[in-house]
Amino acid sequence: MTQHTLFVCVLCRSSKIDLQQTGLSAGQSLFERLSEELAACHGCEAIHLQPVRCMGACDRSCVVAFTAPNKLTFILSQLSPIHSVPELLQFSEQYVACSDGKVPYKERPEAVKKGIHAVLPPLQH
Ligand code: FES
Repeated sequence: MTQHTLFVCVLCRSSKIDLQQTGLSAGQSLFERLSEELAACHGCEAIHLQPVRCMGACDRSCVVAFTAPNKLTFILSQLSPIHSVPELLQFSEQYVACSDGKVPYKERPEAVKKGIHAVLPPLQH
């Protein structure tokens, strides 16, 4: 099974939600929510969630990236640590199911359409 990686910056902070209730950074909160939801998601088994300590887009938190061999890499930013979770799960399933990772624009969830920071081509071997 092709390994797909979802990188999540766990150091991202948000002035709105540096979750006073939990004491977690926005990025850590997003990571933990995704971790729980991905574990329960059929169709997301191929996604490996990996924490990252900064992806260099700190003023555009929260930041994640989807990548896999022979697929486009999507770098997404300005994601809500709470509200983006269902849409990131939806995109996870779409990304796994799509042979080149090029999920048709119209089918992408809103948070993904709005959150595109960069899209990279597949690495050539
Ligand atoms: S702290 Fe998240 S990108 Fe830098």
